[in-house]
Amino acid sequence: MEHELIIQSLNKISAEGAYFLNNINLALPRGSRLSVLGPSGSGKTTLLRMIAGLDAPDSGDIRFNGASILNLPPHKRNFGMMFQDYALFPHLNVFANIAFGLKMKGMPKQEQIPIVEQMLALTNLEGFENRKIDELSGGERQRVALARTLAPGPRLLMLDEPLSALDRVLRKHLLDQLTQILSRLHITTIFVTHDHEEAFAAGSQIILMNRGCIVQSGTPKDLTQHPVNDWVRQFMG
Ligand SMILES: Nc1ncnc2c1ncn2[C@@H]1O[C@H](COP(=O)(O)OP(=O)(O)O)[C@@H](O)[C@H]1O
Ligand SMILES: [Mg+2]
Repeated sequence: MEHELIIQSLNKISAEGAYFLNNINLALPRGSRLSVLGPSGSGKTTLLRMIAGLDAPDSGDIRFNGASILNLPPHKRNFGMMFQDYALFPHLNVFANIAFGLKMKGMPKQEQIPIVEQMLALTNLEGFENRKIDELSGGERQRVALARTLAPGPRLLMLDEPLSALDRVLRKHLLDQLTQILSRLHITTIFVTHDHEEAFAAGSQIILMNRGCIVQSGTPKDLTQHPVNDWVRQFMG
């Protein structure tokens, strides 16, 4: 099996000597979907930020397609990260939000148009290009954020708690919508959540984190049927 993303012995230590990330090891095949599950403060966002290049580890390596990427700045990694609060631009319309990364790359408007149209179709947002962000529902905003993240054609997609900003009642429906969109893509995806049902729906492999460590990794079935300790059993409910 060919591994696209490999993380080796990754550590991030606070000034006081506490571990934010403690010996993280991970290997993802191309096109796979991983869920990173864990309670608040377990290090999930810290791990994504290291992969994205927004933060540097104290030791260990992150490799992509066989080469270390630690010295590459975020924009050269060509990874897409969707943040918990979506970080959309409220003063720009849907088109401009989705085209943002393309514009930053210096792509002419004529070339942006077909890509944005393709992203609108993928996320079921056809006809929304001139809408303002504050006229959209939470679920529509989430899909604009996903379309914006995907437009530049990232090599890796990372979603940090993509449903947590949404109404609890709608979450199940929006999770279905989101996993349907993800299954149409052939891009390696890391889905971060504190909710095990979300994790199981979004990823075929799960890593469960606590206090900066991977406590258990495996399939949803491994975690529910063969928890490695009482903490895992309790966390899984
Ligand atoms: N650069 C940093 N400076 C200070 N604290 C940090 C830093 N990076 C991570 N942390 C701490 O590491 C812990 C894990 O945080 P985080 O990765 O945001 O957890 P999660 O996303 O799982 O809720 C938290 O206690 C957080 O405050
Ligand atoms: Mg987080």
